[in-house]
Amino acid sequence: MKYIISGTNRPGSRTLQVARFVQKLYAKHGETVELIDLAEVGLESLAAAAGYGDQIPPKMRTEIAKINAADGLIVVCPEYNGSMPGALKYFIDHWTYPDSYEFRPIALIGLGGRFGALRPVEHLQGVFGYRNAFIYPERIFLTDVHKLLDAEANLTDPRLLALLDSQVKGFQAFTRALSSAGIDANSRIKARNDAAKTV
Ligand SMILES: Cc1cc2nc3c(=O)[nH]c(=O)nc-3n(C[C@H](O)[C@H](O)[C@H](O)COP(=O)(O)O)c2cc1C
Repeated sequence: MKYIISGTNRPGSRTLQVARFVQKLYAKHGETVELIDLAEVGLESLAAAAGYGDQIPPKMRTEIAKINAADGLIVVCPEYNGSMPGALKYFIDHWTYPDSYEFRPIALIGLGGRFGALRPVEHLQGVFGYRNAFIYPERIFLTDVHKLLDAEANLTDPRLLALLDSQVKGFQAFTRALSSAGIDANSRIKARNDAAKTV
């Protein structure tokens, strides 16, 4: 199962609208993809010392288990003050290394003002690249996103729809190829668990 992460918890977020739209595109291409909405994730207060590393906060356990079994992640990220929202980085900082990241296929979609979230997408490439994920090279940047969504929260610009379609199909092929070669995160976790059983 692939998961689309809607990368902010802001009420009324456009990111969630884009994430839902992308979910429909995957359905159109024959794949059911689940949404992880940051507004629904139990992001504890920063002051509450939620725990990092081995101590996954109980309220994030369900989502982190999904991340750690995902055959692909599609991160939809808005630009907040020249980077990704703190809520998204906070969530990512609670994932478990190496299982959440290493060899995990990740596709990136940014949305923002004039620069279409180029900065946060590149910051995410830095974070996931550092943690050895497989970043899918076709990234999407939604420039001036407030002008792109219609009243039904659909994206209608034909050029953009072609780019999104291409990312969906390409990412599906990418995850299939990695998995059939046995070099994606899930294959490696399985191989490690199988090896531990035989010792
Ligand atoms: C706190 C905050 C900071 C923002 N900072 C930027 C920014 O630095 N650059 C930019 O292009 N847009 C910025 N924006 C605009 C958002 O990228 C844009 O409104 C987008 O729709 C936000 O996604 P959301 O609707 O899911 O919150 C900011 C919006 C918010 C709420």
